[in-house]
Amino acid sequence: MKVLITGGAGFIGSYLAEAYLERGDEVYAIDDLSTGSLDNIQPFAKNPLFHFVNDTILNRETMLELTGICDVIAHLAAAVGVKLIIDEPLKSIHTNIVGTEIVLELANKFRKKTFLASTSEVYGRNSQVPLRENDIRIYGSTHLARWSYAATKAMDEFLALAYYRTKQLPIIIARFFNTVGPRQTGRYGMVIPRFVAQALRNEPITVYGDGKQTRNFTYVGDVVRAVIGLIDEPRAAGEIFNIGGDGEISINDLAARVKSITGSSSPIQHIPYDEAYQEGFEDMERRVPDISKITNLIGYRNSYNLDSILAKVVEYERTK
Ligand SMILES: NC(=O)c1ccc[n+]([C@@H]2O[C@H](COP(=O)([O-])OP(=O)(O)OC[C@H]3O[C@@H](n4cnc5c(N)ncnc54)[C@H](O)[C@@H]3O)[C@@H](O)[C@H]2O)c1
Repeated sequence: MKVLITGGAGFIGSYLAEAYLERGDEVYAIDDLSTGSLDNIQPFAKNPLFHFVNDTILNRETMLELTGICDVIAHLAAAVGVKLIIDEPLKSIHTNIVGTEIVLELANKFRKKTFLASTSEVYGRNSQVPLRENDIRIYGSTHLARWSYAATKAMDEFLALAYYRTKQLPIIIARFFNTVGPRQTGRYGMVIPRFVAQALRNEPITVYGDGKQTRNFTYVGDVVRAVIGLIDEPRAAGEIFNIGGDGEISINDLAARVKSITGSSSPIQHIPYDEAYQEGFEDMERRVPDISKITNLIGYRNSYNLDSILAKVVEYERTK
């Protein structure tokens, strides 16, 4: 099978590419290297089944050619992370809306099955526990740029579902909940690589807000297994799935855990949201996924707990 991975030099995209290559599939990865990197694909760049295209998904000509060649599309390219979206709102909205429109329009032209990477951010401020795929979305004011990430990803979902309903294009949507592992960069506000890097340098571990907010973390290898399982399952078409880890932890406890695992002397320092992001920044108290839908369909279960994930990230950050 030939798989086109948009965002294939990104954190999750590079693991997805690696997993398909290990299965003997051919992979075409397109990435503009805006947040991804050649280091991410270095472990398998020389595999003859791997083809890397350094270009943007906004280039319709390139996408036309790649979509024609491949059997399946995994669309992961996006402006990712709340910090990036706040810092570069125009570019981010353009990538997430126009980019996805191009991907879906061409997928439909060639009738190619398409997987769309969405996010738990789509639930917005709904702190209900656990969150199910059909639950309502609650967003703050449009003055707060952070909500544009959720809104653009929700629009991507609407668009994909519209292609499914009106053109019968087989599309699959998954909402990832805080995916973590080696290769993830802390540059755009991702909490685990940021905490681990700070701890290893014995610098203050910076917790945004009061740190009482909780998150569930998912190992990237588990996410990739779930994505491939969904793409392989014909009954997944036209559906939305949560993919997320089981252990809930507060950000304060996470900081303490990272400090203890690394044997760091870092102090834990709290930074108000207004300072870390932008004035009036809003966050969710909790975000716990219900993953029974994907478990019931393909038997998916998480295999890594937080300690085993942290051990992998610490090992990676130490050797960087
Ligand atoms: N990591 C998470 O916790 C998480 C959570 C929810 C959803 N997601 C989704 O998963 C997907 C992958 O995220 P990630 O964590 O691997 O982040 P990432 O930033 O490493 O991956 C995104 C990739 O897309 C590339 N890209 C961005 N704009 C592009 C463009 N116009 N053309 C071509 N390539 C472009 C980037 O260079 C990068 O390699 C994204 O769609 C993201 O919204 C991730």
